[in-house]
Amino acid sequence: MSLQKEETTDGAARLVVVLGTGGTIAGAATDVRDNVGYQAASLAVEDLLGHLSADAGPLQAEQVAQVDSKDMDFGVWQALALRCAHWLAQDDVQGVVVTHGTDTLEETAYFLHRVLASRKPVVLVSAMRPATALAPDGPQNLRDAMALVRTPGVSGVLTVCAGRVHGAQDVRKEHTYRLDAFGSGDAGPIAYVEEGAVRQVRAWPCAAPNGRWLELVAQLAVPPRVDIVLSHAGADGRIVDALLALAPAARPAGLVVAGTGNGSIHAALLAALQRAQAAGVRVWRTTRCAYGSVLAAGGHPLPMAPDLSAVKARIALMLELAGA
Ligand code: SIN
Repeated sequence: MSLQKEETTDGAARLVVVLGTGGTIAGAATDVRDNVGYQAASLAVEDLLGHLSADAGPLQAEQVAQVDSKDMDFGVWQALALRCAHWLAQDDVQGVVVTHGTDTLEETAYFLHRVLASRKPVVLVSAMRPATALAPDGPQNLRDAMALVRTPGVSGVLTVCAGRVHGAQDVRKEHTYRLDAFGSGDAGPIAYVEEGAVRQVRAWPCAAPNGRWLELVAQLAVPPRVDIVLSHAGADGRIVDALLALAPAARPAGLVVAGTGNGSIHAALLAALQRAQAAGVRVWRTTRCAYGSVLAAGGHPLPMAPDLSAVKARIALMLELAGA
């Protein structure tokens, strides 16, 4: 199945830039039968492109980072956002593909969704098995990413894994082992990639392009610190008090609490969070449930986060505090 390629005015196919950040898709194990005991972020991004045939069109690879995505941090996000913005601004570039680990892919996707002003596609692609596996999933996922990024009209920050396309706002890793590890909860996938053809079932995500965020992110040496706390049986709030006891420069500027059910919080933890609020820390409330939104129930002392998981609410609050 040949891939569709948009052309420049002189008839040449446009470039797709593949930015490497590491992950299992670039992982290597000593035994080809081992799908779980491997070193993530071992192979260079150029080495991952060998399985693509000539119909993938003109490609350019660039290694932005080489990390196991559990170790993702703001510095990598900053570098990645700037390289995405650089390439997306070139007329002859059709879109960007980012190779990434599965573990924090949803966070990177949401960060890019918030800070990139481009309407061209940015597709994050990952794998659950290392590149050295007997039956690796990375090559097919990468081929699907190429089909997606080359499809006319596709836009926004998207992820593709096991043939399912998700948007940055809703995507989350849902499974520790299955090749089809991602879901979008009640919203469902945006599209499917089937034998190189993209079957769209929902609108492409539309971020409100705002170049200000990228400028802001580019200038930030250290982002505002935002931590996540979890409400659970026996949550006594000591963790919050310990954070408040830190020296002012180390203290979080924001806290996201992943509450139970509809955003309810253990009474002792709530009291500690209110002490934090009184001390000037911004506190947002979300839920630890995988699906569903926190619905407004009058009179709760803590504001609800936007309709996001705790890890994405952390990013939203970090950006809000940086922009304040
Ligand atoms: C990672 O997130 O970098 C390692 C795990 C994975 O990619 O599945």
